[in-house]
Amino acid sequence: MITFRNLKTLSRKRATLSFPSQDARIIDASDFLMLPALIDGHVHFRIPGADHKEDWKTGALAALSGGVTCVVDMPNNHPPCHTLHHLHAKKKIIDQQLKQAAIPLRYQLYFGADPRHLKEIAQVEECIAGIKVFMGASTGELLISKDADLEKVFQLARIHDRIVAVHAEDEQILSERKKALGDCKDPAHHSLIRDRSAAISAVEKLIYLAHKHDAKVFILHISTKEEAHLIRQAKQKGMRVYAETTPHHLFLSDADYAAHGTYVQMNPPLRKVRDQEALFEAIDDGTIDTIGSDHAPHTREEKDQPFGKAPSGVPGIETVLPLLLNACTQGKLSLEKITRLTRRNIENIIPFPLHDDCVIVDLEKIQTVQNERLKTKCGWSPFSGMLLKGWPIYTILNKQVFEVERGQFLP
Ligand code: DOR
Ligand code: ZN
Repeated sequence: MITFRNLKTLSRKRATLSFPSQDARIIDASDFLMLPALIDGHVHFRIPGADHKEDWKTGALAALSGGVTCVVDMPNNHPPCHTLHHLHAKKKIIDQQLKQAAIPLRYQLYFGADPRHLKEIAQVEECIAGIKVFMGASTGELLISKDADLEKVFQLARIHDRIVAVHAEDEQILSERKKALGDCKDPAHHSLIRDRSAAISAVEKLIYLAHKHDAKVFILHISTKEEAHLIRQAKQKGMRVYAETTPHHLFLSDADYAAHGTYVQMNPPLRKVRDQEALFEAIDDGTIDTIGSDHAPHTREEKDQPFGKAPSGVPGIETVLPLLLNACTQGKLSLEKITRLTRRNIENIIPFPLHDDCVIVDLEKIQTVQNERLKTKCGWSPFSGMLLKGWPIYTILNKQVFEVERGQFLP
């Protein structure tokens, strides 16, 4: 039995917690705080088709190192997860890999909307977290660029009572701007090509459709002040519109291209400092429901290619909690808010079976984000070099204690 004694909880009470183990150990946890383990509603663990970037063993280790015990994985794989057959095949590989790794990570999968396979939604409804729509092209081949197809997705989502989770960037605006600016060699131009107008216009369309179909829509990785404003208005009207933002849109801006180049290139792209501030305000007033890491690893070799060839996406599952705890120690976010963003609200949007996983953190621990410490297969972070205060020490998954420093479960 492992016992944590004198552990602080969110209700400011002290608790003693015990978990089964071969050892008899008592840990003085008086400097530690227990929080609910995180649900990361937005990861790309790259199976099938790109296991040189990540697989479910390295992804699960990275998750536990970041205090995450539940993930929702995206369908932009090779082949994409857009048929019942592909969904089952993907699930089979994931279960094998998690079994081999002996990590019972909790997960759900999105079904990718593809114009040729929309009818399959009827067959998969029970087994999916929701339907993922790419309104603008990003990594992979999934795309719904025609309004008529988007309408169909909303109709099917309503019939089968599934949430529509959307990468909201307008494809027409993206392709027009790419034509006009496409030859640029500077990674900073990524934010000009994928201009804010593409995101704003897509969110306007989604809110219109959500209203028309009385549908549940989950707008992923919002990055601009205007998107937050539109979503705030929709919520005030009582619509079932939910919003996610990411750690990179909160803690990085377009000023970071100068130092990091393609290593901070992602879709939607980084915006202005004033957008970062607006996102924090939208967190504060409840417009933004949740923070998903959008963990989208690519190898260094891939990222080292020139702008135009380098893929978009950054890893993030291991750093989301330290970044949020650090913001808390700076007075920007309360612990209650962090818990709501990373567990309570996302649990309402994408329900997981009940569990009592938790993460034990040290709010005084100061450590730099170091690539060498990361468990993600890609081995780098866009936050590398940042000095953060507040780190996870143990993650409890299904009563098993994972020690972050050693990267393994206690026996
Ligand atoms: O930057 C991104 N990377 N945005 C996406 O929409 C996909 C992701 C990936 O899978 O690499
Ligand atoms: Zn994503």
